[in-house]
Amino acid sequence: MYNSMLLLFSSNTIYIMITCFILTLILLANELNFTQIKKKMLFRGRHMMEIQLGHNEKKNFGAKQATGPKRKFIIGNLDVLDGYEIPYMAFSDLAQKYGNIFKLQMGTVPSIVVNGLENIREVLIHKGDHFDSRPGFKRYHMLFDGNKENSLAFCDWSDVQKTRRDMLSTHAFPRKFSMSFNRFNDITLEHYQMLSDDIRRDIISGKTTAIKPLIVEACGNVFTQYFTTRSFERGNTKFQQLLKNFDKIFWEVNQGYAADFLPFLLPFHSKRMKKLEQWSHEIRHFIVENIIGDRYETWTVSNEPNDYIESLIDHVKQKLQPTIEWDTALFALEDIIGGHAAVANFLVKVIAFIAQNKEVQKNIQAEVDNLLNERSEKSVLIGDRNKLIYTEATVMEALRLVSSPIVPHVASQDSTIDGFEVKTGTLIFINNYDLNMSTKLWEAPEKFEPKRFISNGRLLKPDHFIPFGNGKRSCMGYKLVQFLSFAILGNLMKDFDISTENGEEIKVPLGSLAVTENPYRLAFTLRN
Ligand code: HEM
Repeated sequence: MYNSMLLLFSSNTIYIMITCFILTLILLANELNFTQIKKKMLFRGRHMMEIQLGHNEKKNFGAKQATGPKRKFIIGNLDVLDGYEIPYMAFSDLAQKYGNIFKLQMGTVPSIVVNGLENIREVLIHKGDHFDSRPGFKRYHMLFDGNKENSLAFCDWSDVQKTRRDMLSTHAFPRKFSMSFNRFNDITLEHYQMLSDDIRRDIISGKTTAIKPLIVEACGNVFTQYFTTRSFERGNTKFQQLLKNFDKIFWEVNQGYAADFLPFLLPFHSKRMKKLEQWSHEIRHFIVENIIGDRYETWTVSNEPNDYIESLIDHVKQKLQPTIEWDTALFALEDIIGGHAAVANFLVKVIAFIAQNKEVQKNIQAEVDNLLNERSEKSVLIGDRNKLIYTEATVMEALRLVSSPIVPHVASQDSTIDGFEVKTGTLIFINNYDLNMSTKLWEAPEKFEPKRFISNGRLLKPDHFIPFGNGKRSCMGYKLVQFLSFAILGNLMKDFDISTENGEEIKVPLGSLAVTENPYRLAFTLRN
């Protein structure tokens, strides 16, 4: 998530900087005093508390204390990320010195880094209830109208979040060959066809293809049509602007900002923050005008919801428990429609990987051709996933290389990880990158090799492969990611050979999903 610790300075005057700096010092000083007082009280009260608390709380007193690198004045340990192309590599290196669980003071934010599958499982699954909050970065609040609790991914755990997840799961995790599953398949094929037509037009006019905008438009339409029964014709400029806004926000939330940890730097980001707010307001405006329309007013609660919008409207209008305001429901809808940006950015990377790997293309094509030659249906369907093992393994391999580290968690109560004490409010970095790239877990991990996910002709998913997290805060979009990327990749390979422009090498950034606005053009040729 924290690809680069950006310290962006605008043209603000120096006195703002000094004022903010002094304010931060005062905050830190207060914090230190408070910590001293707390320590004294804790010491005096410990005996009493041991009598009053239950078994679980008591065992924290015997907990080990995690160590970590020496902190610097103000910035704490923020400097440990310096010089790393992928910040999570720093965590793997530090684990060699301080062990699998170590602590970092990230500016004003106390943090623990968790390495190793068993420890990660302890956080995500066995003690999921202890670590189910998310960081309270100002940026997250700004994206959601001043309150990150409006967000599906950045909110703390609550009954509302549980309900939002439950309500979404019927749409996001359609059962194989259910109505929703078939609907998602049909919608995907319809928009794949338009994507393929656009590529063919480029081929006919002898041009290479700017792949990202086409993929974004296809994925955007699949998501709006599936979740809201509304799609937009190719080239609709307002819809394209909506997709651009989502993509810019997706890029932003995938960047790390030192200001998340050093609040006195926030004024230097004010321009950027304003833009974030503007993009999210524009998104809201488009959705209300062009997607919701009069559906809220005209909905009658005796109807059976047909899509996600109708499930949301139904819950709000019936005042089901826990009650959710229409405004909050709209944020959930935006979050889910915005999920298309994650799949699209991912697919752009998948396609760049295979454009540079002719053998992988040949293997997918052979597998796809074999299947399609045997039947009358000439498209790759989502239901073919268990028949096209190599194609599926290619998606998994790309996920291994680029899936971003798990969104940080925050301890919602005092707890322990592997016996190390963790206080309420501590930020938890989960080093998923290490699980994907460790030489102890994978042979030649830097190599793009789909076959590593196949054993005896069957798909093999090792336990340490968790690109979508795990437990109560796990990814709500993972099934749709798997479905859509499989179908687009399989059908592209059925129709085209893909190369880079002039055979040039493309460096695909690893350890993060987000790609820049228009990263590369690719050369498509029609297969016979
Ligand atoms: C390749 C694409 C994607 C990857 C690699 C990915 C990965 C992740 C990861 C690692 C998490 C954090 C899990 C945790 O904290 O334990 C997450 C959370 C989440 N993802 Fe995804 N994701 C992808 C696409 C999507 C899509 C398409 C959607 C929407 C349809 C989506 C919706 C969410 C939501 C709502 C959460 C937060 C859940 C919560 O906090 O309760 N994701 N994702």
